[in-house]
Amino acid sequence: MKAAVKSALKNKAAKPVVWLVCLTPLTYLVAIGPDGWGANPVEMFNRFLGDWGLRGILLTLCITPLAKITGQPGILRFRRLIGLFAFAYVCLHLSSYVVFDQFFDVAAIWKDIVKRNFITVGMISFVLLVPLAVTSTQGFKRRLGARGWQRLHRLIYVIAMGAVLHNIMMVKANYTEATIHAVILAALLGWRISQSAHRMSISGKQPEISA
Ligand code: HEM
Repeated sequence: MKAAVKSALKNKAAKPVVWLVCLTPLTYLVAIGPDGWGANPVEMFNRFLGDWGLRGILLTLCITPLAKITGQPGILRFRRLIGLFAFAYVCLHLSSYVVFDQFFDVAAIWKDIVKRNFITVGMISFVLLVPLAVTSTQGFKRRLGARGWQRLHRLIYVIAMGAVLHNIMMVKANYTEATIHAVILAALLGWRISQSAHRMSISGKQPEISA
């Protein structure tokens, strides 16, 4: 079974399959059309894309634990792709806010960023996410060195915390989904910290969280 999974992960078709899976939410959004978008399509678009941006970030964070727990390092080769899809969904989320919600009104957008705390937190998370997307290539990994690259990419935890906080802060009534996101992030952080503590107990070094 383990060998079958290992060879499936190495298969040439695996990446296109991951592409298709990552494109499914966007395809769904287009496929349901105006009838499915409901009475407030702008809000529907914005929230749908924000949700998938956050889910993508959490999924990206799941890859390393999943690879270690299952003993399938082959999963790691999909991390960058999933991370870039998460970034794309966040970009679409921000675009839907700028285009359909604010009609490119830069002054109104700035006022929102300064005055509405959940938008401030969302914007900080987005700004931090940009350098991670830009430096996700092998070329940048070489230029920054493995340690420098890993250090920079640890920002993903701060981004994920900001994104979950942004989600919690904008909720007015039903906290179920925001709570699920927060619990998943807490579990992922807990796992990373326990791994780091374990490594420290073996090597006697300072605790560290790997990206
Ligand atoms: C890493 C960056 C971001 C992530 C992961 C993210 C994610 C989310 C999530 C999960 C929601 C809640 C969706 C729901 O309730 O179903 C949301 C709502 C929202 N976000 Fe973001 N967001 C990010 C950045 C931003 C930025 C930069 C802006 C604007 C400057 C923004 C504006 C909004 C708005 C306007 C809402 C909806 C509020 C409402 O409908 O009441 N977000 N976002």
